[in-house]
Amino acid sequence: MTETIGVVGSGTMGNGIAQVAARAGFDVVMCDLKDEFLQRALKSIDKSLQRDVDKERLTTEEKQQVVGRIKSSTDVSALKDAAFVIEAVSESLEIKTNLFNQLDTITQREAILASNTSSISITRLGAATTRPDKVIGMHFMNPVPVMKLVEVIRGIATSDETYERVRSLSEKLGKTALDCNDSPGFVSNRVLMPMINEAVFTLYEGVATRESIDGIMKLGMNHPMGPLQLADFIGLDVCLAILNVLYDGLGDPKYRACPLLKRYVDAGWLGRKSGRGFYEYAG
Ligand code: 3HC
Repeated sequence: MTETIGVVGSGTMGNGIAQVAARAGFDVVMCDLKDEFLQRALKSIDKSLQRDVDKERLTTEEKQQVVGRIKSSTDVSALKDAAFVIEAVSESLEIKTNLFNQLDTITQREAILASNTSSISITRLGAATTRPDKVIGMHFMNPVPVMKLVEVIRGIATSDETYERVRSLSEKLGKTALDCNDSPGFVSNRVLMPMINEAVFTLYEGVATRESIDGIMKLGMNHPMGPLQLADFIGLDVCLAILNVLYDGLGDPKYRACPLLKRYVDAGWLGRKSGRGFYEYAG
């Protein structure tokens, strides 16, 4: 029998995870609070798969089969038979702990509860359940269909068996799992966010223009996107929230967010999603 993967949250990360899981042959149940969010997510999956149809890497029939493996529901009890549930809801400790508590009662005892959090403690999420040994971080990167990494985070109580099951699942999804222990920002954001923050400081201090800063890092370091462009892609509010987690969690002033980043977030200039960040975006 095909294993079912549950995904909670159908935003950019959630729908990307659902797409990758369905493409790998799993049955997927994607949940969100409102049907309109789910419909938007299904549209985005369709659009993303269409790129592969256009490039003749997928036939229209195969695309329909992939989409057909994704069921959507506004009721989390639809996840009761899932072998794995991957949570990708908003980055709020309260929302996530309440959800993990609920998932713990709904799902089978052996189901693994994973979080795609970018910075919230896996140990704390585990403590909201009666199965902290089966709670783990599966941090996917945006855009999920393209990026090869799953950063796997072990909470203090996560068992080796859970880690092995998640490593093997990541491989089946066509990803490479690299593990780390539970610590603020894990590895990815602890290394990435200070670089982005430093780029914002160079702009703030008038060291260079946005184009120069990004161009220097693209051409000089072979980064696919410059750090300011990447910050816009991730979301400036997300970058600020992660920097605050690093600052509070590690207690080191080197993680202090640049005032310019805070000012942009205050202005609602959140990057691509709001049409303006360090750059302006049409439509
Ligand atoms: N769905 C499916 N495929 C997509 C896609 C999507 N949403 N976006 C891009 N692609 C595919 C394209 O079809 C193309 O495929 P091909 O090369 O096989 O034909 C390929 O990706 C490259 O896309 P483009 O040619 O359109 O554009 P670029 O070459 O500029 O690549 C990019 C776009 C892949 C986004 C690249 O700029 C990149 O790698 N940027 C850095 C992304 C990154 O660092 N992500 C991590 C962010 S941090 C994070 O997620 C963690 C969080 O906690 C903050």
